[in-house]
Amino acid sequence: MIGIFGIGGIGKTTIAKEMYNRITDKFEGSCFLANVRESSKQDQGGLVKLQQTILSEILKDSSLKVGNADQGINLIKKRLCCKKILLILDDVDHLDQLEKLCERCDWFGSGSRIIITTRDEGLLTKHHVHFKYRMKEMDYHEAVQLFSQHAFKSHKPDEAFADVIKLAFKYAGSLPLALKVLGSNLYGEDIHYWKSELEKYKRIPEENIHEKLKISYDGLDYHTKKIFLDIACFFKGDEREYVTKILDSCGFFAYAGIKKLNDKCLITIDQHNDDQYLWMHDLLEDMGKEIVRQESPEEPGKRSRLYFHEDIREVFEKNKGTEKIEGILIDLPQEDCKTQFSTKAYATNFL
Ligand SMILES: Nc1ncnc2c1ncn2[C@@H]1O[C@H](COP(=O)(O)OP(=O)(O)OP(=O)(O)O)[C@@H](O)[C@H]1O
Ligand SMILES: [Mg+2]
Repeated sequence: MIGIFGIGGIGKTTIAKEMYNRITDKFEGSCFLANVRESSKQDQGGLVKLQQTILSEILKDSSLKVGNADQGINLIKKRLCCKKILLILDDVDHLDQLEKLCERCDWFGSGSRIIITTRDEGLLTKHHVHFKYRMKEMDYHEAVQLFSQHAFKSHKPDEAFADVIKLAFKYAGSLPLALKVLGSNLYGEDIHYWKSELEKYKRIPEENIHEKLKISYDGLDYHTKKIFLDIACFFKGDEREYVTKILDSCGFFAYAGIKKLNDKCLITIDQHNDDQYLWMHDLLEDMGKEIVRQESPEEPGKRSRLYFHEDIREVFEKNKGTEKIEGILIDLPQEDCKTQFSTKAYATNFL
């Protein structure tokens, strides 16, 4: 068992994916379990669904069904104990996830490898993961390459920009996500624009990554900002065409806006077979949600978007909605599913 830990946006998932692609064919079966933190939540199917994914991907049998977590553990032990497997658990944030998905090495056959990525080193210690690897920040040379790819669409930086590039590194740090977003924000702009944008970064403390990422958001036009917030709050992981239709019906010029967000590295567009899906890094999603929360920190009914079930419950039950609400995503936990809400009072863009 190997653990990779480090702060958000430093490249844990990227390195784990790369390793997976390079070594997967050396194993009898393999599974890359992405976003364990998100997908282990009850409303996403919980740990039982993840156990089922591990079993069905490794055994290549999609008919396998797991009834509950204990049954899942037994099935994993029974069916995988003699197989040499590769299992990646990406973005783990709770001990329970490790206990239910890979409590011990002897659940799997000899020669198996389990790789865990997390922001929390303590979790690896508690789970007795002996091989721990702290993700290092990129070195200067790698950082220049990544930044140049986005700021100049080339591996080499433009010589004329040498001085301002140094400033860019000073303010963006060497966090890959920040380098990508900052570089994309400056792409195609002249040196005066660079200097004025970098002045904004200068004022933000080094550790405040949200504020640094927000500078790219601040530079967007009115409709593209709205699209960004809608994706962060409602549409992360959804199909591009479906989202475009909904946003266009609100008059947002969605095709152009989505393209712009992709160009600025604020979202990614993933291709699966014939369809495209919208994705956003967790830190950018958190930033978008924080922008919405800040619209009215105390009163959810005065925010533009509602997606958190407790806020929705409060607004509906206490009748605290206002005309500020533009969209509501009702995704209640199972125990709340029988609740009835009246939506008469809300003239939102979408519900
Ligand atoms: N070595 C690299 N080369 C190029 N891009 C990179 C590299 N490492 C990371 N990135 C980019 O930086 C961004 C953040 O990386 P990644 O998602 O892997 O971070 P993370 O550590 O998994 O963050 P989190 O803890 O939020 O899950 C991604 O968009 C990724 O493309
Ligand atoms: Mg990650």
